[in-house]
Amino acid sequence: MKILMVCLGNICRSPLAHGVLEHLAKENGLEWEIDSAGTGHWHIGEKPDHRSIAVAKNYGVDISQQSCRQFEIGDFDNYDHIFVMDYSNLSDVKALARHDEDHGKVSLFLKNEIVPDPYYDDNLFDPVYKMVERRCREIIAEMNTPA
Ligand code: 4NP
Repeated sequence: MKILMVCLGNICRSPLAHGVLEHLAKENGLEWEIDSAGTGHWHIGEKPDHRSIAVAKNYGVDISQQSCRQFEIGDFDNYDHIFVMDYSNLSDVKALARHDEDHGKVSLFLKNEIVPDPYYDDNLFDPVYKMVERRCREIIAEMNTPA
């Protein structure tokens, strides 16, 4: 399974989803390939935001070695699922889709709600982590069940 997590900056939300799913997949003995990217270009090459690194560390997940990159068209070919954090990410990624198969790979990470952007609110990092962890556990359960 190859999964790409996408948000705007690729420094707050998607690095958490990337790190947590990678951690849980390993814990479950799954050889999944997880990555993350941003629709924006501002932070390319940077590590995740220090607040995301800290909250993940607090729950035993190390995301400090991740490096920010921008979403690119080839990601549609390289991943089975592309999970986006909010509706703006959804329209930005879908605007790049070339055909139905690309469109079919893209969905909101949470089923019917967004992951709020914590960039301007320090108090959101912990609740965002918890939302991300809950959904990652669900993804493992859903995708690890034989059809
Ligand atoms: P993220 O948060 O999309 O969760 O990584 C943001 C990070 C940086 C910016 C916006 C959102 N920014 O404008 O630089």
